[in-house]
This record gives sequence, structure tokens and C-alpha cells, in this order.
Amino acid sequence: MGNHGCMQILLGLLLCGAVWAQAPAPLASNYVPVDQIRIACGSASNVTIEDRVFAADNVANSLATGGVSGSTPQNNPGLSYPQLLTSARFFTTKSTYSFKVTPGRHWVRLYFYPFASSSFQPNNSFFGLTAGDFVLLDNFTAVAFTTKSRPDFVREYIFNFTSTNFVLTFTPQPQSYAFINAIEIVSMPSDLILDDGIFPATTNPSPLGLDHSALQTMFRLNVGGATISPLNDSSRMGRTWKPDVDYIFSAASGTTGNVLPSVINYPPTVPEYIAPPTVYSTARTMGNNDTVNTKFNLTWIFPVDTNYTYFVRLHLCEIFSNSVGDRVFNIYINNQTAWINYDILTFTQFADVPRYIDFIVSMFRGSNNMWIQIGTSAFAPNRKDAILNGLEIFKVNNTASSLAGPNPSVVPDGSSDPSSASGSSSKSNIGIIVGAAVGGVVFVLLVAGLLFFFCCRRKTKSTKPAAASMWLPLPLHGGSTDHSKVSTSSAKSGKSGAGSYVSSVPSNLGRYFTFAELQEATNNFDESLVLGVGGFGKVYKGEIDDGSKVAVKRGNPRSEQGLNEFQTEIELLSKLRHRHLVSLIGYCEEHGEMILVYDYMANGPLRGHLYGTDEAPLSWKQRLEICIGAARGLHYLHTGAAQGIIHRDVKTTNILLDENFVAKVADFGLSKIGPAMEQTHVSTAVKGSFGYLDPEYFRRQQLTEKSDVYSFGVVLMEVLCARPAINPALPREQVNMAEWAIKFQKAGMLDQIVDERLRGTISSDSLKKFGDTVEKCLEEQGIDRPAMGDVLWNLEYALQLQEAAQEGSLSSPEQGHLDTDTDNSSQMMSMPMVVPNLLDDSLTVSTERRMLEETSSEDQSASEIFSQLINPQGR
Ligand SMILES: *[C@@H]1O[C@H](CO)[C@@H](O)[C@H](O)[C@H]1NC(C)=O
Ligand SMILES: *[C@@H]1O[C@H](CO)[C@@H](O)[C@H](O)[C@H]1NC(C)=O
Ligand SMILES: *[C@@H]1O[C@H](CO)[C@@H](O)[C@H](O)[C@H]1NC(C)=O
Ligand SMILES: *[C@@H]1O[C@H](CO)[C@@H](O)[C@H](O)[C@H]1NC(C)=O
Ligand SMILES: *[C@@H]1O[C@H](CO)[C@@H](O)[C@H](O)[C@H]1NC(C)=O
Ligand SMILES: *[C@@H]1O[C@H](CO)[C@@H](O)[C@H](O)[C@H]1NC(C)=O
Ligand SMILES: *[C@@H]1O[C@H](CO)[C@@H](O)[C@H](O)[C@H]1NC(C)=O
Ligand SMILES: *[C@@H]1O[C@H](CO)[C@@H](O)[C@H](O)[C@H]1NC(C)=O
Ligand SMILES: *[C@@H]1O[C@H](CO)[C@@H](O)[C@H](O)[C@H]1NC(C)=O
Ligand SMILES: *[C@@H]1O[C@H](CO)[C@@H](O)[C@H](O)[C@H]1NC(C)=O
Repeated sequence: MGNHGCMQILLGLLLCGAVWAQAPAPLASNYVPVDQIRIACGSASNVTIEDRVFAADNVANSLATGGVSGSTPQNNPGLSYPQLLTSARFFTTKSTYSFKVTPGRHWVRLYFYPFASSSFQPNNSFFGLTAGDFVLLDNFTAVAFTTKSRPDFVREYIFNFTSTNFVLTFTPQPQSYAFINAIEIVSMPSDLILDDGIFPATTNPSPLGLDHSALQTMFRLNVGGATISPLNDSSRMGRTWKPDVDYIFSAASGTTGNVLPSVINYPPTVPEYIAPPTVYSTARTMGNNDTVNTKFNLTWIFPVDTNYTYFVRLHLCEIFSNSVGDRVFNIYINNQTAWINYDILTFTQFADVPRYIDFIVSMFRGSNNMWIQIGTSAFAPNRKDAILNGLEIFKVNNTASSLAGPNPSVVPDGSSDPSSASGSSSKSNIGIIVGAAVGGVVFVLLVAGLLFFFCCRRKTKSTKPAAASMWLPLPLHGGSTDHSKVSTSSAKSGKSGAGSYVSSVPSNLGRYFTFAELQEATNNFDESLVLGVGGFGKVYKGEIDDGSKVAVKRGNPRSEQGLNEFQTEIELLSKLRHRHLVSLIGYCEEHGEMILVYDYMANGPLRGHLYGTDEAPLSWKQRLEICIGAARGLHYLHTGAAQGIIHRDVKTTNILLDENFVAKVADFGLSKIGPAMEQTHVSTAVKGSFGYLDPEYFRRQQLTEKSDVYSFGVVLMEVLCARPAINPALPREQVNMAEWAIKFQKAGMLDQIVDERLRGTISSDSLKKFGDTVEKCLEEQGIDRPAMGDVLWNLEYALQLQEAAQEGSLSSPEQGHLDTDTDNSSQMMSMPMVVPNLLDDSLTVSTERRMLEETSSEDQSASEIFSQLINPQGR
């Protein structure tokens, strides 16, 4: 997966160049929460905790319906806030607390200290709690979450209030009671949590619908540092950051270090309210002995509830080095590679500049321990080390709008500790894995090393950031002719043993273009040369040195989305070469530009040849050939790689035609690496184009290759009927082409909706075969749809039938009918007429091999490295 390493460099360059320079004006870091509502439940007087006043819960404010007050002496030494928590409100029937709020995102904190008062015995408290539509607690018994030393706790939630009324409803179980000690509601900045989490090993954000979801804070850690109390949180938001010592696997806990919080320099993209400086100024690293560091991972284990999705935020800030390449590391989540070759400085450019990454982690596999690990990268050019500064884990409500988890099993004395209980067994597991590889002696060395680095850094701090070409041993560019340098230097470092990285450095990242070259090629981005405009930016027609025509896609650097799609596109296209995939010639990343250069497709998008233009209509045979080409491209995407790639945006504008009308699939901006072997789908938020979207994907948000098959079915239908997938101008039942046309197919009347310019030219057998194929592609359930390879077969067959009909003195319905009875593809192989043509291409048993051979012919080892390249699990 070294390609990824390369990508990281490139992306690093891009990020520094593009986003850094062009980022929006700094967001107000002195955010002041609009709502600050604090109630000391059951208390007769106001309670002041540091700078926060919790108002008395008296009749005058009448926030609660019903319930009785109770209190207990402030004599428990373990209490966090004795004054606040020793009073409570108890409910024996369904009751509410209502608050007037400002719509928008808020923190809601619920304080619990189960104590006995009159007839209320904590071990008899079981209750449910809802907030609007969300279930927060279900048959909850607070005492099960406490220990003798930690008798109280806070539950923190995030809600996006849509009205000015916020109601908490407590529902005690029969013969039981509910209680609450304190409630705190504080506004939070709307962009503190963006819906931009990525699944491990992907680069595109996969929105979860967080704007209408509720979250629960599970863990918030100041890694390598001490507790940060609410008083010291940024913008008075009252968050508590805990040390990570309870969660780090202690036998290999690396070393901690810090710099002064005052040196932390927030970039515009990370407002200070994301996390206070103390989070970023403290960190845990692996240590100073590279040999030792390569032998273990820093591992944190978190007990979480299964069957939920989690939003995981890693806070990163390089505070000990300012040279790129000093700390290139891998991030693993649940034993899966989440990000390979992460080098903070390639993104932040300078030390002491914070950054964070949001991951989406699904815990549906039965395990209730989430593993977060960082470890050295085989590729790391200089030091072998990793760093983490902070970590937050939020639970996202499930589709039943619930956040409730089970009670931990109560230990007889009522003092189970959920974190240590579930953490301990796993910890001993790692013990076995890591073994004695890391001795205590090392620890001392590590600390010494850190100090050393700290000093070095301070000395060199004022120097300019390293020039791009010095960043890493692989000069990606240094002139447009420098391509050979890439392979030379990678080969060299190959001898030093970083096997998997080196073998997979792609020589096909393409040519590096200077910005000036591309300005010249496109007549300074002349508007008259614009071929198309997309979400990403504009595509220009250009001409490079030798007069060859290119398409130049110039990204809009301001769009973060664009950047992600740009990343995906280079990443995928640089790995894939296929006759039916549009090929990347090169790229440019100067002046904060993100520009990709492709082969020019003289005949443009397929749609332009179907309807709405003056282009001469394509014959049925041409249309079939184009569909076959596109199917072949998609089949290659799905199967040509160790882990398939799902295109996600198959439509007639993304199928381009070259001067010979050869179809090439384009626009990989939304593509996703397919599910790993053991999974059957990628869970992801719905993206794609209206009219082409797989209904199953839409409903279940689970992406499989079959989603592309569905979209391709729509393409096929569009090719046949020559009308848009969605045409709102038509009567309601005709708006959605797929729905409308499939009715004709099912009624055996497909011929009635065929493009009238084709009338009488399609052999009925070919049409029948085609119609059946489309019907299967458009099945409701992905499982009922054929694989792309089968679609390809069937289209080939439809073409053969058409050709046969044309040769055999025009369409002869009777004879054709006999042939179509052999509906089965394997029988087709025995048809002599068909075989030569099939062997001509990639449809034999060795499909995959042949596909691989289609990768760039100058790259002999392409097929060998292919599977390595594409497997994001690394090794
Ligand atoms: C309690 O706090 C509220 C608002 O925080 C304030 O209006 C009220 O005067 C305070 N009461 C006392 C007795 O201090
Ligand atoms: C609950 O706690 C009370 C007081 O500590 C004790 O008497 C009672 O036996 C407990 N009940 C159960 C079911 O554990
Ligand atoms: C509530 O949880 C307790 C133990 O945590 C269990 O014994 C009881 O059956 C549960 N009640 C319901 C209604 O689920
Ligand atoms: C909160 O919900 C409103 C209405 O659904 C939505 O417009 C807004 O974007 C949401 N805010 C956040 C921060 O998600
Ligand atoms: C927290 O704030 C207090 C008061 O401002 C200060 O004395 C203390 O040093 C701070 N603690 C940390 C860890 O920053
Ligand atoms: C690193 O640790 C290894 C194994 O513990 C030891 O042999 C080696 O001398 C150490 N290297 C340094 C530079 O301390
Ligand atoms: C999680 O969901 C699976 C499948 O729906 C179910 O079998 C399992 O019991 C659930 N686990 C928990 C802890 O609820
Ligand atoms: C990760 O791997 C370790 C060791 O094989 C195993 O004990 C642990 O359960 C795994 N964690 C997850 C979340 O799969
Ligand atoms: C680090 O963790 C990952 C994922 O669990 C694993 O594949 C890798 O082998 C570990 N590395 C070391 C040195 O233990
Ligand atoms: C959370 O609940 C809301 C409201 O019911 C729902 O719209 C949303 O899809 C849920 N979130 C997830 C991730 O399922």
C-alpha cells in the first residue's frame, strides 16, 4: 500500500498548498455559548462550581413536573462536586424537566450520584429517559455505573434542538424510581462536529446524518496529559478531558511529553473550541528507540456498547519535531488499517499546529471493545515513531433513535467498574501479543530521546519548512521530466528493506505538469475551452507540447469536498489502468491548485449522443458496443482488484467516448473501496445521482457492487429509450425512467418505448436479451441482480444476436427466437459464432488475469503488485 504513502506526500503538498493558503477566515475562537442553563436538581439554593452557577431547583422556576427533593450529607470523599451532587430530584411516576432553549447544537450533561434518601434505595432505581424522540436511557440503574472511588458520573449528549422547547422525560419502572442530581445545557458551535467522518481506510467523508442525530460522549481524553477540568475547557463549554492512562495498554505505553500550551498555534481550519491548547500541547509517543518502536503499537482499548456506530476524533499535533518524515505512522482501528503513513506535518506544515481526523467506527461485530492503535510505518524515512494528543469517542444514535446501552452486570456489592471490567481481559490479550518486547529500561531511553528532540526542534524552529523535494526520499516532481527519479529512488530504498512500500510505488502517478504548462495548454483557462463543469470545478480542453489533446480538470481549492474527491480520484486512477477507464496523464499541484490531466475524449459524454443534442443518432450496434465497453470498465473496477472498487456514480455523463466511440468510465470522485472479503457491504451515507440511485442502497445505506449494477441498468435503459433518467416535465408516472420503463419490459412491450430513431433496426432477439438484462439489473434486491461480469456476458450476447440478425439477411424474428431460448450463458460458449469474439476479450476463466494484463503494458510487474496496491489493509 505504498502507493498510499506516495499519495500522502502528494496530498500533503496539496493540502498545504491549497487548503492552507485558501482556508476561510479564522472562525471566532472566542465562541460564547448562547444558552447556559444549569440546574442543581432538588437543591433549595444556587450552587456555584468554579465559574458555573447551577440554579436552585425550586417551585418558582417550575421546570420539573412532579418529583420530590432529597439530599444526603457531603461526606463521600470520592464525590466530584459534593455541593452540587448531594441533592437530587426523585420521580416515582413519569415526569419531565422542560427548558426554554435556542435552536441549534447543544451539550446536555446529566449528573448522577445515586444516594439513599428516605425510601429511595439506589439498588431499586431503574428508569428510562427520553429527550424528544431520542431514547437516552432504558431500564437504567445508575448505581451499576459507579464504584466506591468513583461514586458519581456525568452523561454528556449532543443534541441539535429544532424547537425552543427541550423536554427530558423520566419514566421509572413499576415499583421503582428515577432521579437526577444536576442538568447542564450549553450551546456549542455548529461546526464543532461536522458530518465529515471517514470510514477507516477511506478518504471520502461518509455523512451519517449527524445534523438530525443525537450523540453521546463516551470518552474524551487528553492523551499523555492530565485532567482538564470544565473550567479550563475552551470557550466555557464545560467539557472534561481525562488522562488516557486508564485506557492505554500499560505494558507498551510509550512515553508522554509536553510543550507549553501557549505555543499551540491554531490554524483557521481548527478553531480553538475544537480542543483547548492543553490537549494539543501534551502527547504520547512511542519512544526514542526505533528498533523497539517497530515492534509494538500504542494501543488504547475502550469498552463501548455493541450495535452502535461511533464518531471517533483523533487530535493530532506534532510538538516534538518540525521535519516532515520524522513521524510517519499508521493508525489502526479495531485491527484494521484506518490511515496508512500519516505524517502530521505534511498537513500542518509547521510544528505546534493542531489537526484532527474524524473516523466512523461501526461496532456491529459483537465485540464491545474498541481498539485504537498507532504504530510505526514501514515506510517512515527517518524516525520510527507515532504520536497522539487527544481522542474523543461519541456514540451515534441508532436507526431506532436510541442511545441506550445495557447496564453493566452488577457485582454483588454494587460497585462494578465498567471500564476496568471489560478492559482487563483484552489487556491481558495484548500482553501475550506484545510480550516482553518492550522493557522498562527502554522507557528511560525514550524520555531522554524526547528531551533531545525537544531541544533540536526548538533550535530549528525558526527555519523555513523543508522544501517539498526534501520532504521525503521520493521526489514526486522536480521538473516535468523527472519521472524516472521516482522509480530510481524508490528502487534504492527498496534495498533498505521497506519491501511492501517500495514494490508498490506506482510509476503511473503520471507526469507532473507545471502550472505554467497548463496555462499555456488551456490558453490560460479560457472559458471557451470549458468542456464541462462539475461540483469539483471546471474541465477544460487543452493541448500539450506535442499537440496531443488533453482534458484538464481544475479543482476549486476552496471546496473541501472537492479536495476529497480529488484525492480519491488520483488515488484510484493512479492504480488503475484499463482500456475502458479514462486515463490520468498527470497532475499539477502548484500555487495551491489541484489539477488533473486526462486523455481527451473527443466524443464527450455518452448522454450527448443519446438526446438533447444534434449529434447523429448512434446505431443499436454502436450503442451495444459502448455499453459493453462501459460494462467492461465497471467489471474491472469490481473484480480486477483484490478489494473491489465501487464507482458509486454510474450515469451516462460519466461514460465518455473517445474518437472511435470507445467507452471509458470516468469520474471516480465518489468511488469507494469495496467491502473486504468477510463483509458484504460498505456502510455509507448515500451519494450518487438522482435517478440512478439503487433503492436498496438508499434505504439501507449499504453499498455493494450491486449498487453500480443498478445504476448501470438505468444507463442501459437510457441508451435504449434515449430520455433522461429523471424528467420532471413528464407526467408523474413517467418522471422516473427506470420505474416507468421496467413496466413495459415486464409487460413484454419494451419495443414501444425504444428510441424512435432506432425503430425497426433492432433484432427482436437482441432487444429481448437486452431487456431481460436490464430487468435483472434493476431488481429491487441487490442479491437478485447479476454481477457486472454477467451483465457483460449478456450484452455481448445481445450484440452477437444483433450481428447475426444483420448478417443473416436482416432481422428474422422466427429464427432469432430459437436462439434466445438458450438463455444461459454457459450454453452460449458452445455457439461457434460467439466463441472467437469472446476469446478476443476478457471473458474466459482467467478473466482476472487478463484484466490485469490490461494494466499499463510498460509496467511488467503491474499484475503482481496490483493486489498489494489495492488492498487498503496494508500488510
Ligand atoms: C441563583 O442564580 C440565578 C441565576 O443563575 C439568579 O437569578 C438568582 O438570583 C440566584 N439566587 C441566589 C439566591 O443567589
Ligand atoms: C438494596 O440496598 C439495601 C440497603 O443497602 C439492602 O438492604 C437491600 O438488601 C438491597 N437490595 C438488593 C436487592 O440488593
Ligand atoms: C432491568 O435491568 C435489570 C438488571 O439490570 C433486570 O434485572 C431487569 O429485568 C430489567 N428490567 C426490564 C424491564 O428489562
Ligand atoms: C440542526 O438542525 C437543523 C434543522 O434540521 C439543520 O438545518 C442544521 O443544519 C442542524 N445543525 C447542525 C449543526 O447539525
Ligand atoms: C486551569 O485553570 C486554572 C485557573 O485558570 C489554572 O490555575 C490551572 O493551572 C489550569 N490548569 C491547567 C491544566 O491548565
Ligand atoms: C534499542 O533497543 C534495542 C533492544 O532493546 C537495543 O539493542 C538497542 O541498543 C537500542 N538502541 C538504542 C539506540 O538505544
Ligand atoms: C446486536 O445485534 C445483533 C443482530 O441484530 C443481535 O443478535 C445482538 O444480540 C445484538 N447485541 C446486543 C448487545 O444488543
Ligand atoms: C484485535 O486483535 C487482538 C489480537 O488478535 C484481539 O485480541 C482483539 O480482540 C482484536 N480487537 C478487535 C476489536 O477486533
Ligand atoms: C499494530 O496493529 C496492527 C493492527 O492491529 C497490526 O496489524 C500490526 O501487526 C501491529 N504492529 C505491531 C508491530 O504489533
Ligand atoms: C438518529 O436518529 C434520527 C432521528 O430518529 C435519525 O433520523 C437518524 O438517522 C439516526 N441516526 C443514525 C446514524 O441512524
